[in-house]
Amino acid sequence: MSWLILLPIIALVCGSAPAFADDDERYLNCMNSFDCGNITGAGYPFSGSDRPGYCGYPGFELSCRNQDPEITIMGSIYKLLGINNQSRTLNVSRTDYTENLCPTLFSNTSLTPNLLSSNSDHGEVSLYYGCPSPIPSGFSAQFTCNINDTDMMGYFVTVNNSVLSMTAPILITYLTTCNNSVIVPAHQSAILPILGNPTIAQLLGAINQGFDLVWSANDSLCDTCKSSGGQCGYNQTTTAFSCFCADQPQEFECTESPQASSPSTSMSSFIS
Ligand SMILES: *[C@@H]1O[C@H](CO)[C@@H](O)[C@H](O)[C@H]1NC(C)=O
Ligand SMILES: *[C@@H]1O[C@H](CO)[C@@H](O)[C@H](O)[C@H]1NC(C)=O
Ligand SMILES: *[C@@H]1O[C@H](CO)[C@@H](O)[C@H](O)[C@H]1NC(C)=O
Ligand SMILES: *[C@@H]1O[C@H](CO)[C@@H](O)[C@H](O)[C@H]1NC(C)=O
Ligand SMILES: *[C@@H]1O[C@H](CO)[C@@H](O)[C@H](O)[C@H]1NC(C)=O
Ligand SMILES: *[C@@H]1O[C@H](CO)[C@@H](O)[C@H](O)[C@H]1NC(C)=O
Ligand SMILES: *[C@@H]1O[C@H](CO)[C@@H](O)[C@H](O)[C@H]1NC(C)=O
Ligand SMILES: *[C@@H]1O[C@H](CO)[C@@H](O)[C@H](O)[C@H]1NC(C)=O
Ligand SMILES: *[C@@H]1O[C@H](CO)[C@@H](O)[C@H](O)[C@H]1NC(C)=O
Repeated sequence: MSWLILLPIIALVCGSAPAFADDDERYLNCMNSFDCGNITGAGYPFSGSDRPGYCGYPGFELSCRNQDPEITIMGSIYKLLGINNQSRTLNVSRTDYTENLCPTLFSNTSLTPNLLSSNSDHGEVSLYYGCPSPIPSGFSAQFTCNINDTDMMGYFVTVNNSVLSMTAPILITYLTTCNNSVIVPAHQSAILPILGNPTIAQLLGAINQGFDLVWSANDSLCDTCKSSGGQCGYNQTTTAFSCFCADQPQEFECTESPQASSPSTSMSSFIS
């Protein structure tokens, strides 16, 4: 296994050394990792920066803006807070709720079907906009926004409707009269502590801790490819997983170990 880890290091040390000159360009390019801000060493299924699109799975293109890593999911931009390639989880937060609860566009969080799903720590906050005044007495989680030159009253709820219908049915009736609503995901463990006394600052704090998404992008095919010495990628023509080997792309795995004479092989046997 250790020579697999060595490959990127050798690539860094040797750069475009002649030993690699004959190797497939895609194989070489997909050795690069995505590095931006706090995200370092990201590989398949992600592409972006030094990793061309074919090094990742569609829907996992990352970008780096002012050292802020970002991912676009179903047309919306999210800040990428973390990647856990063991649990295959990414940690993202909504960029439109960074400063306040008043986005210029109302949009729910929609996830790419079959590729991204929520994990067990998934919680949700419901934000209501354009709510009529006065709000029913006894409820305090309100805020105001000026959006597109329109002042509006908002209300947020940190429990789901089944809990709300048991504890505050009057509030549900009231909230149905608001003009818009947006559902923002957050870690359940970040929402729970603010249930007792929800303030706008606490809510923003919870939202900006992000939420986890579990990905599913032919990861087991990638495991097979990597253990055969290949770099994982995607064939845009066949729209299927591709294993980039030192000599040429293969469907699943490299048929022979990458170039027996390459320095990686000799060095790994030296070190291990
Ligand atoms: C990197 O992470 C640290 C600690 O979580 C945080 O304080 C800092 O703002 C992050 N930097 C960026 C560019 O996101
Ligand atoms: C997994 O994450 C670690 C730490 O960020 C990184 O060094 C490693 O290259 C990653 N592996 C893959 C396959 O992305
Ligand atoms: C604000 O105006 C823009 C441009 O007209 C529009 O696309 C957007 O939906 C408006 N936002 C809200 C919350 O009404
Ligand atoms: C968000 O989802 C809720 C529940 O499905 C829906 O009532 C609301 O209209 C949606 N908001 C937007 C902006 O699409
Ligand atoms: C709801 O939207 C309508 C139409 O845009 C507007 O006239 C009304 O004032 C809004 N209600 C509230 C409470 O903001
Ligand atoms: C609503 O939230 C409660 C408490 O967090 C949870 O036990 C319940 O499963 C949730 N119900 C739905 C329909 O999500
Ligand atoms: C997500 O990232 C934020 C910011 O780094 C961190 O505070 C939070 O604990 C992370 N959550 C998980 C489950 O990794
Ligand atoms: C590859 O991933 C796609 C999207 O998740 C899925 O439809 C397809 O069945 C996967 N192929 C294999 C061989 O796992
Ligand atoms: C994509 O698949 C086609 C058909 O199998 C093959 O000819 C081509 O070389 C492949 N390209 C890559 C980049 O894997």
